[in-house]
Amino acid sequence: MNIVGIDKIGVYVPPQYLDMTVLAQARGIVPEKLTIGIGQEKMAVPALYEDVVTMAANAAKMILTDEDKATIDQLIVASESAFDYSKSIATFVHELLNIQPYCKAYEMKQACYGATAGILSACDYVRLRPDRKVLVIATDIARYGLKSAGEPTQGAGAVAMLISANPKILAIEPESISYTTHQFDFWRPSYSSVAFVDGKFSTELYQQSFIEVMQRGIQLIPEKLQKLEAVIFHLPFSKMGKKALEALNQSTIEHELPLTKWSDHYEMSTQLGKVVGNIYTGSLYLSLMSLLAYDTQLKAGQTVGLFSYGSGAVSELLIGTLQEDYHQALHHSVVESMLDNRQSLTIEAYETMFEQSLPISDEVVQVPINLDNVQGFYLESIEHHQRRYNFK
Ligand code: CAA
Repeated sequence: MNIVGIDKIGVYVPPQYLDMTVLAQARGIVPEKLTIGIGQEKMAVPALYEDVVTMAANAAKMILTDEDKATIDQLIVASESAFDYSKSIATFVHELLNIQPYCKAYEMKQACYGATAGILSACDYVRLRPDRKVLVIATDIARYGLKSAGEPTQGAGAVAMLISANPKILAIEPESISYTTHQFDFWRPSYSSVAFVDGKFSTELYQQSFIEVMQRGIQLIPEKLQKLEAVIFHLPFSKMGKKALEALNQSTIEHELPLTKWSDHYEMSTQLGKVVGNIYTGSLYLSLMSLLAYDTQLKAGQTVGLFSYGSGAVSELLIGTLQEDYHQALHHSVVESMLDNRQSLTIEAYETMFEQSLPISDEVVQVPINLDNVQGFYLESIEHHQRRYNFK
């Protein structure tokens, strides 16, 4: 069978952030509750000229060559922050990236699990057609509302992954373990611009879902699980995966899983999530980028488990094998310089940005932009309800 998986990863993060100590001070809580209690340092805040399309296109632009664009047969965009019930984000991004026209472009949604469904579907497609490629992009804006309990777990960003045969970064196994349960832990009805969440229940359901998936894995593929060098997680906040590992450790399930080793690697997988915040469906893949960029103990040939969780709720454990020279293929310095060049917001600026929105009009709405601050794709206007983008 052809070896298929992630050949390239690109990450985009908005150029402004709010520091958790600034947020804690404004909300009258001790900073340690956020920096230690949930393990977050900063959260990315998108500007009005940024949306799921611009972030997705910016993440993908940095990794694609002209040859890739001519070989991509499918563009799958996963998101739970779309602005249109009908037209997919993918059709906009297809145009902005100039991908060959005989490609199919569509959207996937199941909360923070969506991108995982996209990647698995992409891998199956390429296994049958090893000379072709699929681009999968996760793009989201996490919004809970000012002064809400979920406020410190917001964020925004996109992760683009090129799926190919003989990938340079991570080969993905066809076997995975999934689990679905219909629940209201976190959801966003179409009439709401912010998520509804039962916070405590959501963290419990996440841990329970991890245990269910691992229990099934122990029955079906015990040796593969025992061999995993590290396990990485969807991280709504950086302490969440640690809580899941502890819950498994404290459960009554009999197993021989190397939990201590997984805990040792865990910290390195949280470095990017800690300073970006929750990016919903891209979050797991930001953890992957973080682990591969910063964990110097990992070696090619080792396997990593990827635990995907999307409220509602769907979970899946994927297994990936690190490829020779995966570290060189990452280009994580681009992400580091993007993070280093961000601007810190005051609480007033953050609150203003959070509350501003573009008017709904039958006419032409120009987006207020200071082009000095813009790099890459941006939303320029909405003309008769049609979004128009530009590039700088
Ligand atoms: N120093 C250190 N730690 C402190 C502290 C202090 N001074 N004060 C409090 N803490 C700790 C608490 O002990 C707690 O830790 P444990 O959970 O380990 O006990 C932690 O800080 C958080 O405290 P609270 O539970 O009191 O915090 P909260 O009620 O304000 O809410 C939250 C936390 C539920 C995560 C909330 O931010 C929220 O609702 N977030 C959105 C929902 C979410 O992210 N859910 C995650 C699972 S769902 C999912 O994964 C999908 C998705 O992306 C949304």
